[in-house]
Amino acid sequence: MRIDILTVLPELLESPFAASIMKRAQDKGLVEIHIHNIRDYSTNKHRNVDDYQYGGGAGMVMSIEPIACLIEKLKTERSYQEIIYMTPDGELLEQPLCNTLSLQGNLMILCGHYKGVDERIREHYITKEISIGSYVLSGGELAAAIVVDSVVRLIPGVLNDETSALTDCFQDGLLSPPVYTRPPEFNGWKVPEILLSGDTAKIEMWREDKAIERTKSKRPDLLK
Ligand code: ADE
Repeated sequence: MRIDILTVLPELLESPFAASIMKRAQDKGLVEIHIHNIRDYSTNKHRNVDDYQYGGGAGMVMSIEPIACLIEKLKTERSYQEIIYMTPDGELLEQPLCNTLSLQGNLMILCGHYKGVDERIREHYITKEISIGSYVLSGGELAAAIVVDSVVRLIPGVLNDETSALTDCFQDGLLSPPVYTRPPEFNGWKVPEILLSGDTAKIEMWREDKAIERTKSKRPDLLK
């Protein structure tokens, strides 16, 4: 998979992909992440990437030219399955969308800033608009990092134990059951006896019961 991220703040996207699973996925050649600075495509002598909005009103709008120029350039180099725009008014990011995106070959992600991008970018280039939640961030970069992380970890071979993505929260519409590790007792707080029993069938049943119980109490909406 190849992911191209278009941003005016490339420095915000340096660390999220430079460690742990995201770094390993790139080192193994399972994903290529390319960060592009929109400012490099500004033809303006001050390298401006935004302008006042038509009709007046507070807040700058990201200009069409540098973004269109960068998108056109990338599109001549390869075809993209989705050109995504990160925006609070987009489709809410949920596990099924992450699963779908993880099956794609090339993705482009545009990070919004200020009051947003000139609407013509959305109309003519964007194929999918994604929100990470009903709150407003100062820019789309952190949201883009979340999309990339949630998608890349699903690419086969990225996680060491392939089944671990399948047993994630939300994959079967349930929250995950509680987990424990050594020691078996701390401050008198004991690990549930059944987990130490070695009876794998009973442990599976216990986990399923706990997953349902937890989902009922914390996220009853998932059971509808
Ligand atoms: N940009 C600003 N807020 C956002 C959000 N909640 N989701 C995606 N992109 C955003």
